[in-house]
Amino acid sequence: MMKILESVVIFLSFNFVKLEVSPNFAKCIDKFFYMNTAPILQGLVGSTQICQRLGNQYYYATEYDTKNRIPYYSLYTLSFDKCGSRYDGWFVEPQLADNNYPSMVHISRANNNIATFGRKQAVNVDYTGSGFDRGHLNPQLYHCETEDSRKATNSLTNIAPQVSSFNQGIWNVFETTLYDISKSVLPSNDRFISNGRVNVPDHYWTAVCCDSSGANGALRNEGWSAGFVGGNVNNSSIFIYSIQNFLPTTSTTLFADYQDQNGNTVKNCLFNPTKAYNIINEIASTDDRFIKEDFFV
Ligand SMILES: *[C@@H]1O[C@H](CO)[C@@H](O)[C@H](O)[C@H]1NC(C)=O
Ligand SMILES: *[C@@H]1O[C@H](CO)[C@@H](O)[C@H](O)[C@H]1NC(C)=O
Repeated sequence: MMKILESVVIFLSFNFVKLEVSPNFAKCIDKFFYMNTAPILQGLVGSTQICQRLGNQYYYATEYDTKNRIPYYSLYTLSFDKCGSRYDGWFVEPQLADNNYPSMVHISRANNNIATFGRKQAVNVDYTGSGFDRGHLNPQLYHCETEDSRKATNSLTNIAPQVSSFNQGIWNVFETTLYDISKSVLPSNDRFISNGRVNVPDHYWTAVCCDSSGANGALRNEGWSAGFVGGNVNNSSIFIYSIQNFLPTTSTTLFADYQDQNGNTVKNCLFNPTKAYNIINEIASTDDRFIKEDFFV
């Protein structure tokens, strides 16, 4: 099963989405998180955990930075279906502004309710005329299983400003090339849009864990992991790392240790280094903007 880092959700019905602020992801920790354990990242400021639910179903989880008004990461399980039919509406998470709001609200381009909902999160008007795309952490592309699963990705809590040529260029190539992903952003020190309300991240990253711990027989040792990071700039490249050497200064643990059936410890979701190595080579061979950094020994 592919585990990915990202966040948001909850959809009730036509025009209403319900957000669920859930400290420590208590409501969805058993859904998307490898080994039912949230990643440990250092230096998160003003972060809030959101279980992204639509109707009765959780679709992903998001750690949201209410100060920079961008997500730190969204975490999801990759669906292997792909489709092109997109949902164009947008949703905000009213519980970030006030816990008493019961449900998530569809937000139109004309009415962004910035005074109400914009205090702790970005809204559409922040992006209008900024020159940046609303970049998804958890992309619609990976969620063609149901319309609700695609809708759920269009919460503005799952969005950060992304340079258009990067979003529509190599990052799109990467997303279509890779299946199990964890994608996230790193806030920049001094890049903002909307008069300083919304941070423009310096990088987008994805950490992928193919979790084979639940498989039978030999397949049990076929899991693999890798990290991918690209600068949020024109003419960007994607650098590929082993999880061990990925984000070493900001991350304590992306994927928890796992004790296998023989009592061996699998670290960083790296069940099978050879498999990881082969998959990374295959991905890297598809485009010369993929650059393998220190990978496996
Ligand atoms: C990227 O290129 C476009 C078009 O040349 C330009 O308008 C934009 O400012 C550039 N963005 C960055 C972040 O350099
Ligand atoms: C980016 O690529 C375009 C062509 O796609 C080229 O015209 C431009 O000079 C490049 N910019 C940089 C900063 O390399």
